[in-house]
Formats: sequence, structure tokens, C-alpha cells
Amino acid sequence: MNRRRRIYEGKAKILYEGPEPGTLIQHFKDDATAFNNEKHEVVDGKGVLNNRISEFIFNHINNMGIPTHFIRRLNMREQLIHQVEIIPLEVVVRNVAAGSICKRLGLEEGTQLSRSIVEFYYKNDELGDPLVTEEHITALGWATPQELDDMMTMAIRINDFLSGLFLGVGIRLVDFKIEMGRQIEGDLMRVVLADEISPDSCRLWDTTTNDKLDKDRFRQNMGGMVEAYQEVARRLGIFIDSERPKGSGPVLVK
Ligand code: TMP
Ligand code: ASP
Repeated sequence: MNRRRRIYEGKAKILYEGPEPGTLIQHFKDDATAFNNEKHEVVDGKGVLNNRISEFIFNHINNMGIPTHFIRRLNMREQLIHQVEIIPLEVVVRNVAAGSICKRLGLEEGTQLSRSIVEFYYKNDELGDPLVTEEHITALGWATPQELDDMMTMAIRINDFLSGLFLGVGIRLVDFKIEMGRQIEGDLMRVVLADEISPDSCRLWDTTTNDKLDKDRFRQNMGGMVEAYQEVARRLGIFIDSERPKGSGPVLVK
């Protein structure tokens, strides 16, 4: 089945050639990494959960009129997507201080920010994805001023939507990371949401207990990562019909 042409393999996903020109298949692996691959484990079931959660979110975002690369889910681990040229930036939106902003600015984790903050990081593993400003982005040609404007507007709309979606199921959207790409349609080129949105790329805290329901459980060796992702899926009303356990054959009925 995997004799398809592999276009790209990242830390958590593989991209294969799609069935038609201009399409790709995005495959979600069970690999979990943190701190630029310093910490790496295979977490059984994570790929299936992220595939379903990301499908759910991208469908809603498509329906809001924000263009995305997502076409449809194909199976437990794969989605059909439009091929895009990834803009080499990670766009982070923060509502509450956590993670790198706390370290960088000496803020206490959990501090509510008086307004949402949009940050850009240059996607470059060797440099450790450094924080960059709009000046760097346009001067170095990573995105045009118009693209940057589109990215910012999309990021804020997605933040408003996701904040409400999660709040409705008792989850605080602390922050998240998105990636965008250029999609070519005839003579037109437009910026579309790409990659994934899942508990790998968001910080999600239970609104009453502040329990972490995201990848920080892995980054901070807290355990219970898959259970937390399952809880997010359950609250969103996503039913995961579980994959057949590896190596299990037909079961004899006695
Ligand atoms: P940070 O606090 O480490 O900068 O992370 C901000 C958000 O971005 C958080 O929700 C986790 C997410 N993120 C990724 O999805 N991939 C990454 O490589 C990093 C560093 C963060
Ligand atoms: N995704 C990054 C890595 O694999 C970092 C992170 O999510 O913390 O290293």
C-alpha cells in the first residue's frame, strides 16, 4: 500500500503523491517529538486522533469561507489535500501566556493576555525556528506584505472561531500554531491554511481544572497524552472507531 511516491517526511506526518495532479495524501504518524526532535517517542494511536480532530476543525474552517488545503479524510490516518507551497513560517497565536513566551519575557504561565498576540517563527530546524518580525519576513522575501496581511487576518479569525469552539466544550485555547501555503489555481495564487490543527499544535486547558489536554503532557513527561487527545475528541463529539490492534487476527468464538 505504501508503494506510492513519498514526497516529504516530517516529524509527525508523511506526504505522498495524490491520485490527481495538484493533490497529495497527508499521512499522520504516531511519532511524537519535542524540542526539535531531541525527545522522540512513538505514541500508539496519536496519528489516528490527530487525523480526526484536524479533519473536524478544517471542515469547520472551510465552511467559514477560509480556504484550506483540506479536501477530505480518506481513512484512519490519511487525508486528501491540495498541494501547496508551504510558506516557511509558523504562525503562533497566544491568548494566555505559556511555553516559550514565559521563558522569553519572564511571564508566569497562565497569565491572561490583554489582547491576543500573533507571532511569526522562521521554519528552519538548524536555527531552531527563531522568532522573526514582519520586517524580516518581507525583507528576506519569505512572504509579501499582502500575504502577511492575509496570514494575520486568517490567524485572528481562526483564533476567534477555535476559542469559541473549545470554550463550548470546557476547554481554554491557550495558544496554537498554524502553517499556511500558496495554492495556485489557474492564474491566481492564494494563501490557504495548511498542515494540521490538533492537540499537537495547540495548548488546551480544561476550563475548570486547568488540566493540560495537549502535547505539553509529552513535552513535560506528564503521561496520559493519548487519553488527553481522546478526551478532546470526545468533547468535540468526534467518535473514533478504534483501529484493530496490531497483530490481532481473527478471534475464535468459544
Ligand atoms: P511555544 O510556546 O513553544 O512557542 O509554542 C506555541 C504554540 O505552538 C503551542 O501551542 C505549541 C505550538 N508549537 C508547534 O505546534 N510546533 C512547534 O514546533 C512549536 C515550537 C510550538
Ligand atoms: N514540533 C517540534 C519538535 O518536534 C517542537 C514542539 O512541538 O515542541 O521538535
